[in-house]
Amino acid sequence: MTDLHHHGDAELAPGLVDLAVNVRAGTPPEWLRAVLHRSLDDAAAYPDAGPARAAVAAAHDRPPEEVLLAAGAAEVFVLVARALRPRRAVVVHPSFTEPEAALRAAGHPVERLVLDAPGYRLLPAAVPAAADLVVLGNPTNPTSVLHPAEAVAALARPGRVLLVDEAFADTVPGEPESLAGRRDLPGLLVVRSLTKTWGLAGLRVGYALGAPDLVAALAAAQPHWPVSTPALAALTACTTPAARAESAAAAAELTGHRAALLAALPDGVEVVGEPRSSFVLLRVPHGPRVRAELRAHGWAVRRGDTFPGLDGDHLRVAVRDAGTSRAFATDLAAILGSSSTTRTAPPALEEIR
Ligand SMILES: Cc1ncc(COP(=O)(O)O)c(C=O)c1O
Repeated sequence: MTDLHHHGDAELAPGLVDLAVNVRAGTPPEWLRAVLHRSLDDAAAYPDAGPARAAVAAAHDRPPEEVLLAAGAAEVFVLVARALRPRRAVVVHPSFTEPEAALRAAGHPVERLVLDAPGYRLLPAAVPAAADLVVLGNPTNPTSVLHPAEAVAALARPGRVLLVDEAFADTVPGEPESLAGRRDLPGLLVVRSLTKTWGLAGLRVGYALGAPDLVAALAAAQPHWPVSTPALAALTACTTPAARAESAAAAAELTGHRAALLAALPDGVEVVGEPRSSFVLLRVPHGPRVRAELRAHGWAVRRGDTFPGLDGDHLRVAVRDAGTSRAFATDLAAILGSSSTTRTAPPALEEIR
């Protein structure tokens, strides 16, 4: 049975270089830390979500009633599972497993639609017409595949909630396939997160965009004051034009870093899918052994076998700076080229940045 609650953080250990968790390196930036620190001065008061909700709404050119603030994208998945009564829920895989876990925990049966390797192309006709809840990620964790907006939009219809997990959308320059601005699609719920680009996994902050009635139904399932004052401060701060420019620059830089990683990968490594986000999905022979040897060499990568549709030969690797990627690729080449498990000292982070 797949462990739907296994995530990259479980792969980390002291001394390992983190290629397992896809949070942008060097985050949160100094200015954002200062915002968070200052927000603690207001900690005695209950949170006022109004300004942050208005800021997120303005950033997406939508009215505030179409914005649900939440303690991370993960909370939205739970709210959907608790507030809705889907008769036929379909989750498109391979993908992030928390939406399916939340649906199952709420007692809903879940059907999996597993896309075919190597392209993991989304064919809208493959989604059962009777599905009244469809969940998919774009770009998709762990494949890094970015589905065309038209293919995703084609899944929307009256009587169906279409949950598009866009937790990684801001890693793609210009966000060309995002549906965050689409207000015309019935049942669309776009989920976004501040976790990855801003390095706020521990703060728990994200939001969803959808029609006012859907947003209200989900909000009714939330506790009062669901989002803390520091998280609200982060939402406001990360939607300013300057913050959005920084995020766009990071996405552009990521494209170069990803190309460097792909160029450095040794023979014998298959890149599965066309990677468009801050991680790549690889396939290697004897994956479990390779992953263990990578750990012995100082590298933590994300195992693939806990994602429905993948197996032990799949490894998900975060995109870091070119120096880190080259050092990783060198060790990977050595591991693939020999069956030896000789341990070499992991490079110090300062040396490879
Ligand atoms: C695709 C995807 N969606 C959502 C999440 C969870 O985001 P958050 O930290 O906002 O709950 C993750 C975290 O790994 C993810 O990979």
